[in-house]
Amino acid sequence: MNDAVLANIKASITTIPDYPKAGIMFRDITSLIQNNQAFNQTIDCLVAQFQDQGYTKVLGAEARGFIFGAALAHRLNIGFIPARKPNKLPRETVSQEYQLEYGTDALHIHKDAVSSNDNVLVVDDLIATGGTIIAAINLVRQLGATVTDAAFVVALPDLGGEDKLTALNVKPFSLISFE
Ligand code: PRP
Ligand code: ADE
Repeated sequence: MNDAVLANIKASITTIPDYPKAGIMFRDITSLIQNNQAFNQTIDCLVAQFQDQGYTKVLGAEARGFIFGAALAHRLNIGFIPARKPNKLPRETVSQEYQLEYGTDALHIHKDAVSSNDNVLVVDDLIATGGTIIAAINLVRQLGATVTDAAFVVALPDLGGEDKLTALNVKPFSLISFE
């Protein structure tokens, strides 16, 4: 992965201090995705990392994980699973609550979204505490599918999420980080 490309992707992300509450440095990816060069570079980098590895599905966490996860699934030519917030999915689901850097929430997937034949790549825009992606991993594993890798555009290493994934035998991969 080319350093100039990664620097361009990082420069396309806007930082908003004290949003949504005091003390949070919010890393806003909307400025990345409205920049077609940075968005294309981001998806190209993720494709280069994860193509031809035997994944059968990509899962993306609502809402920002949908943007990168669906684009990556399309390029890998495999299906996409949206892990959704409560009361959004119309059929029977499995669910998992989790803590955020700034609150609590829950994710659901349909019970028939994955099966024991699936090898699922879990994707989100950003890993902070890891709560969101660990909830997604637990949902996939609860339905008998395999998760070995998790992909992010941005990591916030100071919040410890990547170490929690490693402890769960999931390898974290991120394009850039903000210390
Ligand atoms: C953000 C982000 C990740 C999560 C990361 O989502 O998109 O999903 O937080 O934090 P964590 O590693 O501590 O779990 P948010 O819940 O703000 O929802 P959104 O995508 O709907 O904006
Ligand atoms: N999700 C959790 N923490 C975040 C942060 N600092 N910036 C953007 N999204 C986040």
